[in-house]
Amino acid sequence: MNFYMNQRRLRASAQIRDLAAIVLVSHRDLIQPIFVEEGLLQRVESRTMSGVFTDTEGSVLQQIANDLAQGVNKFLLFPIPNQRFEYNFNFEFATKVVQSIKKKFGDAVWLACDVCLCSYTAHGHCGVLNEEKTRMENAKTVKILADYALQLAQSGADCIAPSDMTDGRIKAIRNLLDTEGYDFVSIMSYSSKFSSNFYGPFRDVCKSSPDKSLKLKNRKTYQIDPRNLHDAMRSSLRDAEEGADFLMVKPALPYLDILTRLSQKVDIPLVIYHVSGEYAAIDLLAKENLIEKSAAHIELWTSFKRAGASAIITYAARNGKTWLETDSDF
Ligand code: PBG
Repeated sequence: MNFYMNQRRLRASAQIRDLAAIVLVSHRDLIQPIFVEEGLLQRVESRTMSGVFTDTEGSVLQQIANDLAQGVNKFLLFPIPNQRFEYNFNFEFATKVVQSIKKKFGDAVWLACDVCLCSYTAHGHCGVLNEEKTRMENAKTVKILADYALQLAQSGADCIAPSDMTDGRIKAIRNLLDTEGYDFVSIMSYSSKFSSNFYGPFRDVCKSSPDKSLKLKNRKTYQIDPRNLHDAMRSSLRDAEEGADFLMVKPALPYLDILTRLSQKVDIPLVIYHVSGEYAAIDLLAKENLIEKSAAHIELWTSFKRAGASAIITYAARNGKTWLETDSDF
């Protein structure tokens, strides 16, 4: 052959690059996590994640109003109660926050609520433990989570997002919601959620790290082992069978292979969670002027869509519209 493959023709100008592109991120794909803490007097910014706040019951309404003005209308709520329990959980704070958000914004806001016990338990685990505190009690936890989910649905939540990793919770939640007349509330399962090193900044915000003095020091007995591809696939496929409307892969970058594999197996929308440690890493690079934050996030979001995500949970969602409009010189 007397020619070489000229791949650069299709890279030669912004226009031709646009035409050749097959993935385009929109701010409509993005979900913004929000944290609201009970009894907090003044909102505080996270010490490791820029632009991420823990809001008070009042300030969250202003934050959401600002976000709506910036083109964000999908949120994932993390309530942080100021009391921790072993068994008898009280979900009143969370339900109050959901009610006040839905009362003020109605259908202008799509509100998903994280459902897990890690911000509720005295020991920081995602569910109820046995008496010796050596393992999580699956059945008891599922029952509590389903009850919590129902209370959130009754308060106006649009979507329930269980992140605890017990078995059978999707089925239990779906059944209870349907029986009680909330068949219109969707479920976004954290279905392929790994036991990861990248949740640090989140646990710092939610004060939800497991108690290191216990025998059960970490979440490895219920979150997925990063080496176990089969578990990641089966957990998601099972949650799909149990009635999840969305499946999720979490964290994002180390697990894009799972996302792609799932996208080839199921016809269910897939959500990817770019988690706190991954977000904070970009912040640290940006602080040292080694990366352009907005362009870096756009590149990451693009990779998530290319790998098969239809939605992205990102702490930078509230910047999405502005960044995508002004930083779109690919
Ligand atoms: C609760 C929960 C966690 C995250 C979302 N829901 C923490 C954990 O599992 O320890 C992590 C989110 C993030 O790091 O951004 N179980």
